[in-house]
Order: sequence, then structure tokens, then C-alpha cells
Amino acid sequence: MKYTVYPVHTMLRESQDIPSVAVVIDTLRMTSVAATALQNGCERLRAVGTVEEARELAAAFDALLGGERGALKIPGFDLSNTPQEYRPEAVAGRKLVMTTSNGTQAIESACRAEKLYLGCLRNAGAVAECLRGEAEVALVLAGTGGRFSLEDALTAGAIMDRLGPGEMDDMAMAAWTLYRQNRGDLHSLLSQCRHYQKLVRLGLEEDVAFCLQEDVCGSVPMRCADNWFVDVRRELK
Ligand code: MLT
Repeated sequence: MKYTVYPVHTMLRESQDIPSVAVVIDTLRMTSVAATALQNGCERLRAVGTVEEARELAAAFDALLGGERGALKIPGFDLSNTPQEYRPEAVAGRKLVMTTSNGTQAIESACRAEKLYLGCLRNAGAVAECLRGEAEVALVLAGTGGRFSLEDALTAGAIMDRLGPGEMDDMAMAAWTLYRQNRGDLHSLLSQCRHYQKLVRLGLEEDVAFCLQEDVCGSVPMRCADNWFVDVRRELK
């Protein structure tokens, strides 16, 4: 397997690269929300860049609206970016349209990829299973405000760890090494990081704890031809 890690999604957006397989990672919290929603029975979800676009799509498809700006719920939206809100009672059988500050922007940056998945620590093992047999993968880190975020790199490291060693660019090597050095206690390292600290300041420690659990979710959001994401397990049935 050949691994390429884009430390911030804008690098992919600005390049000519067209990955055959890409995984977008926004561990805190958008891709954790997406995996949780699909695991809990959300029928399909769409990720868009702007609040206006989200409102229009949700109205057209009778979908729930979820996401955040400044990590807080958007006025008039049904759900915030707290993954624990995406319970079966809230999302089962419903379509969901999301817009967030970084995660959904990163998905737009990776839209040229032929196959596109969403990864987080919660579904790291399940993502690795989807990737097994592929020749190469681009791991696209959402970051925060156009800057690198360590939690996304650790998640890339976790996915590579589940898959096993391969040909790595330097960023992939850094992510993999850092994950292996800190596995078992990601909180200690991440508690010094910007987005973790911001969420804790906002009283969202439970979100952080939820998002840093590893391999507890078997659902992997996979983009379909119509740009909606579905659980890969549903598509494989
Ligand atoms: C994002 O997409 O920017 C994040 O998920 C931010 C957040 O934690 O709400």
C-alpha cells in the first residue's frame, strides 16, 4: 500500500492530484458525527460548504440539518456537531445534510477522488478493512482553519497501523510514528492541542472523549455517484 497524507485539505484542493482512493479525516468532530449518524440508521448524508446550500438541499430532500459554525449549533438547524446527538431516535430512516467549518470543506477538497470515504478514530479499523486490497490511498486531514491538527494526523496513523506498513511519504511516516508512540493514551498528547482545548473550553469534553474512542464503530461513510454518503456495509449487502 502506498500512503500519501495531505496535512491540510487545502493542499489537495490546490493541487492537480486526483487520488484513486481518499479518506477525509476530521476526528474532532465532523467525520465522527458522520460515522455515528450512519451507524445509527441515518439513510444517507450529504456534506456541503455553506449554510445556505445546506438549507436548500435539506428543504429539497426533506432532510435533517446538522453541523456547526464556531463549534456551535447553527440557528434553525436540527442538530449540532455533537456526535452523541445523532441517536437512532433522531436520525434513523432520515436523510441528513451537514455543513461544518472544516470537515465538510475538506470533503469538497477531496471531491475529485474516484472513491471517497470518511474516517475517524471510532471507525479506524473499519476504514482499514475498506481499503484492504487498494494499491494506494490519500489520507486527507481536515485540520482547523486551514492549519494542521494533530488529532487528524493521529487518526491517519491509526488507519495505517490497522493496515500495516507500506510505502509512505514523510507526512504519513510522521503520523504513523506519532500514533504508535502515543497509542493507548491519545488524550495526554491531544489535551495540549488547539481544537481539543477549544472544545473543552466550550464544555464539550464528552464529545472529545466520544471521538477519541478507537474501533467502536463499524460504519464507514462512502460517497455514491450522486454525492450522498451511505454506510459502506449497506452498499455491500
Ligand atoms: C469542523 O468541521 O470544523 C469540526 O468538526 C469543528 C467542530 O468540532 O465542531
